[in-house]
Amino acid sequence: MSRTLLVTGGAGFIGSNFVRLIRRDRPDWTVTNLDALTYSGNLENLADLEGDAKHRFVRGDICDADVVRHLMSECDVVVHFAAESHVDRSIQDSGPFIQSNVLGTQILLDVARAANIDRFVHVSTDEVYGSLPLDQPELKFTEESMLAPNSPYAASKAASDLLVRAAHHTFGMPTIITRCSNNFGPFQFPEKVIPLFVSNLIEDKPVPLYGDGLNVRDWLHVEDHCEAILTVLERGAPGEVYNVGGDNERSNLELTHEILRLMGKGDDMIRRVQDRLGHDRRYAIDSSKLQSELGWKPTRSAWPDALEQTVRWYCDHEQWWRRVKSGAYREYYENQYQGLV
Ligand code: NAD
Ligand code: TYD
Repeated sequence: MSRTLLVTGGAGFIGSNFVRLIRRDRPDWTVTNLDALTYSGNLENLADLEGDAKHRFVRGDICDADVVRHLMSECDVVVHFAAESHVDRSIQDSGPFIQSNVLGTQILLDVARAANIDRFVHVSTDEVYGSLPLDQPELKFTEESMLAPNSPYAASKAASDLLVRAAHHTFGMPTIITRCSNNFGPFQFPEKVIPLFVSNLIEDKPVPLYGDGLNVRDWLHVEDHCEAILTVLERGAPGEVYNVGGDNERSNLELTHEILRLMGKGDDMIRRVQDRLGHDRRYAIDSSKLQSELGWKPTRSAWPDALEQTVRWYCDHEQWWRRVKSGAYREYYENQYQGLV
């Protein structure tokens, strides 16, 4: 069935990988990509889609109901990525997180209801479940786990999940929520740990490891995540939540050692820095519902190969992350559209 998608946040890390997947695997689908190009939105992530008649980029804010209304009148499915996404930034200033993640999601829901949208996929995170202890490795988050967000970022995402849930319960909207573990892969903004560490090492700078380095994350390749989102979009049940994870838990110390090894650097490059406030100890996701009910499974996330490929991608795309770190990527939009859009 041919689809007309409104993708929000499609110039960011996961959204741009998703748009690329759709254009490759669903060539008859059309994508309208609404993105405000905040600091983490980067049109260079989509440079290979320039001139693609089935991908239309619109610079705009999900909080702008008029823009959203206009675009949704031409679409039948919404895939909602747009969000402020970095925990450390939310600790410094929670304002933009409440604005985009909470208010923005409600605006999208209101307009989607009026537009009678067929499917609304809300891309959320395992961070809404809070933190697991290190000494009970058998514990994992399931879809029934309590929401117990610990950072302003996670709390804003949990709030948006609850608004999506309410839209289904109250109005029967065909919503689906996905909650995914930490993603890695190409085009991740180099404030997140993997691209930050790899790019620092290329620049011969140390890598800042928070606290004791024993915090554990479950790592999933971004393309596996994008395939999970496509799976629930096509075959998921309205009103459901699906966890997405890689069964690939690593402590930050293990991750750091692996990156150092892949880059031929020694432990002397590690700088122990002050811990993140309220730093969640462990995330682990049980994605058996998505696997058994819809047949999804990760195929690109296995380490060390997947991590090695990602490290190599950042080594091979030095210009991409150097332009992000220097801020030069922001000129691209102006040059490309010359203030016309
Ligand atoms: P990102 O920061 O790379 O991208 C976010 C995109 O949203 C950017 O392009 C930005 O310009 C856009 N955006 C932000 N506010 C906007 C607004 N008000 N209007 C329009 N566009 C706006 O983030 P990401 O890592 O690609 O994450 C995408 C989604 O996936 C987020 O909802 C995040 O919570 C979720 N998620 C991320 C991870 C992860 O590991 N990165 C894991 C699970 C879930
Ligand atoms: P991050 O990539 O910010 O993702 P999240 O907070 O969503 O899990 O961080 C991943 C882990 O790496 C997290 O436990 C914090 C840690 N970390 C560091 O040790 N140093 C850093 O400079 C950063 C950015 C993260």
